[in-house]
Amino acid sequence: MFHIFLEKMQTIKTPVYSAPAKVFHWLTVLLLAIQYSIGWLMPDIGRDTQPIGLISWHLSIGALIVLLVLLRLLWRWTHPAPPVPQMLSPLLNMIARTTHWLLYFLLIAFPLMGWANASSRGWSVSLFGVVPLPPLSSKGSQLGHTLGDMHQLFVWVLIAVVALHVAAALYHHFIVKDDTMRRMLPGG
Ligand code: HEM
Ligand code: HEM
Repeated sequence: MFHIFLEKMQTIKTPVYSAPAKVFHWLTVLLLAIQYSIGWLMPDIGRDTQPIGLISWHLSIGALIVLLVLLRLLWRWTHPAPPVPQMLSPLLNMIARTTHWLLYFLLIAFPLMGWANASSRGWSVSLFGVVPLPPLSSKGSQLGHTLGDMHQLFVWVLIAVVALHVAAALYHHFIVKDDTMRRMLPGG
């Protein structure tokens, strides 16, 4: 009897994130890595800089990230996350959930700041020159200028929150040794 019970226990699998949720997650990570690299490699931006070359790629990929995250949020609202395998403590659980929603918020607000800055410079933002997107501030706008400064600051805020998130995932995997991270890995 006990033997059958044990076999049953072993076949029970931790529910993982759905394939679309995983694709959204890892595509966002990939696009962010590309976007950070371009942001740091592109030329310094001055009064007369034109949005060409790497800068043009930065605007398009940034806008693509906003659209992707909006789609991801729509998906998430209609498809709840799978339950966590083992709740460490209600406080840690609350911190994890808050961090996830903070990440979603930053992934939208932070690129929009750059976008408003681009508009205030009189640059038109489009998706790879194919789909024109509306300006978020008027040319010469003081608000667009300030949001540009905030965009530069938020480069580091997002890195800090992502670092906390990745540290938590690795803590689950290597220290607690539970299935939390496996739920988001390809194949899982
Ligand atoms: C999540 C998406 C984005 C990331 C990770 C990102 C990252 C960066 C990075 C690393 C820099 C360089 C900062 C520095 O050298 O101090 C930068 C600058 C800039 N980004 Fe973004 N960016 C994103 C989205 C956008 C979008 C959507 C736009 C516009 C449509 C944009 C417009 C700009 C502009 C105009 C600058 C130069 C700011 C200045 O020097 O005054 N960014 N971004
Ligand atoms: C740019 C980097 C990243 C961003 C912006 C990001 C963002 C997010 C967000 C918003 C969620 C919440 C999903 C939901 O709605 O339930 C999430 C979940 C998750 N992420 Fe990331 N992530 C990043 C990198 C990583 C990396 C590198 C790892 C692995 C080492 C990872 C592992 C996980 C895991 C395991 C979950 C599920 C957590 C849970 O439901 O308890 N993430 N991520």
